Amino acid sequence: ASYEHILTSSAKPGVGLITLNRPKALNALCSPLFTELNDALSKYDADKDIGAIVITGSEKAFAAGADIKEMAPLTFSSAYTNNFIAPWSHLANNIRTPTIAAVSGYALGGGCELALMCDIIYCSSTATFGQPEIKLGVIPGAGGSQRLTNAVGKSKAMELILTGKNFSGKEAGEWGVAAEIAGYSRVATVAAKEVVNKSQELSLREGVEYERRLFHGLFGSQDQKIGMTAFAEKKKPEWSHE
Ligand code: HXC
Repeated sequence: ASYEHILTSSAKPGVGLITLNRPKALNALCSPLFTELNDALSKYDADKDIGAIVITGSEKAFAAGADIKEMAPLTFSSAYTNNFIAPWSHLANNIRTPTIAAVSGYALGGGCELALMCDIIYCSSTATFGQPEIKLGVIPGAGGSQRLTNAVGKSKAMELILTGKNFSGKEAGEWGVAAEIAGYSRVATVAAKEVVNKSQELSLREGVEYERRLFHGLFGSQDQKIGMTAFAEKKKPEWSHE
């Protein structure tokens, strides 16, 4: 597919790479960009050859936020009636393939929230995160108040969202992790992602029971036989992804 605001490529076998590409606007996340991003995510998610998805930006900016120039004229009634930003939840709600944000430079506002929607965030030493919405007279609108709080705790998240101040990321991006994930059984990685996410919503007891059920289910997969037989035979498993 050819897109206007993003680039897609399969950088390493099994890894779908999505590069945000609006350099003149520091990858500000306008609605047309998000439509393309969602389309690319759906296509990778449906592709059996793709076992992990990486979202990245440029060296200077992962994404400098939602597009402020697009948002400036919005009214309450249009935002509410059109459910502005709701399509952004596609990544968090519907994508089952493990997702990784590889962040360099600015990841502000909606850019920070986009990174937080991914399952793992890796960043370069220049990565700069922040939820500066307070400076624009608004608040985070794409999950930042919830996911940042889950990530750093209530006190720190409250400070960051109330002051809008930037914070730095850690360490260089570890691209090897995406390839490593992509090297495992799709059945197992999708199940692993699903159970870890359940820990955020279920009680411990329900979560453990949910995990056990999915664990039982994996004994119906070919890859369970392939993986365990390979161990016993001291061979490298050749996953069928079935
Ligand atoms: C629209 C943006 C933009 C944004 C940058 N640009 N961020 N356009 N929306 N979020 C544009 C600038 O207007 C400018 O366009 C060009 O990109 C380059 O930006 P500069 O400001 O000239 O670059 P620099 O001086 O290096 O400063 C970088 C920056 C600054 C510190 C990141 O651009 C900045 O503060 N941006 C806004 C960050 C922000 O507030 N993000 C949160 C948005 S609210 P021209 O045409 O002048 O060259 C949000 C809400 C989320 O995300 C809730 C719902 C999802």
